[in-house]
Amino acid sequence: MLSEFEGQVALVGGGTGALGRAVSASFLEAGATVIVTYRRESEFDTLKHAVGPGAARLSGYGVDVMNESGLTDAISDLVARHERLDVLVNAIGGYLAGAPLWETETSVLERMLSMNLHSGYRLARAVVPTMLKQGRGALVNVAATAAFNHMPSAGAYVASKAAAVAMIGSLAADLKGSGVRANSICPTIIDTEANRAAMPGADHSAWSKPEDIARVILFLCSSDARLIHGAAIPV
Ligand SMILES: NC(=O)c1ccc[n+]([C@@H]2O[C@H](COP(=O)([O-])OP(=O)(O)OC[C@H]3O[C@@H](n4cnc5c(N)ncnc54)[C@H](OP(=O)(O)O)[C@@H]3O)[C@@H](O)[C@H]2O)c1
Repeated sequence: MLSEFEGQVALVGGGTGALGRAVSASFLEAGATVIVTYRRESEFDTLKHAVGPGAARLSGYGVDVMNESGLTDAISDLVARHERLDVLVNAIGGYLAGAPLWETETSVLERMLSMNLHSGYRLARAVVPTMLKQGRGALVNVAATAAFNHMPSAGAYVASKAAAVAMIGSLAADLKGSGVRANSICPTIIDTEANRAAMPGADHSAWSKPEDIARVILFLCSSDARLIHGAAIPV
């Protein structure tokens, strides 16, 4: 059966990360051309090997989201090359926490905002004009349940995720009726190597698998989800 993603172009910000890898692999399996952003060339090489024959439809840009002009240049180049962009998934993000707010350096807040808020802002700014010209497109920004469940000793992190959800909600309102949809997904803890190393005694079987979250993202970007717009979906 021909997948609706065949011939489509999907950009996965942070597409070599733990969740990003699964998202990239899912879109490749569904037949899309996938472009990832990454910071370490070695991680991009690992992804290329992991996806096997799908690697023929995989390319990437080495770019740090902190470098706004670098990111904008990369997206402009992508749009010029592919002349379309159907999907943006932003899986760039990070977690710094562990101390009450008054013992947390301001630099932690700045870093959380850069990784968890600015990444989505900059990527969306760069891709939405192309999607609006097409009159279609789907964006999914990866937030976290921490956007709503404000646990202690994580003020900078929860603030950055809450802000990201609010930003995508407002973007969705901007895009109403345009054919371009924007949603957030809000994972709880994901079964990644990094989390297993950090919490060796935890019950890993209870954690969400990156592949299962990737499936939700693929669905959100599909035409079956055409009525879902401006949602923040817990996964
Ligand atoms: N893991 C969890 O339990 C969990 C739970 C809830 C929500 N989330 C969210 O899910 C998303 C993916 O998480 P993950 O576990 O897959 O994390 P990850 O493995 O660390 O992947 C994050 C990706 O973002 C990239 N990145 C970080 N800072 C960047 C920057 N300044 N410029 C460009 N790229 C940058 C990383 O590149 P480098 O490898 O080069 O740093 C990496 O490829 C994040 O938004 C995270 O907050 C994760």
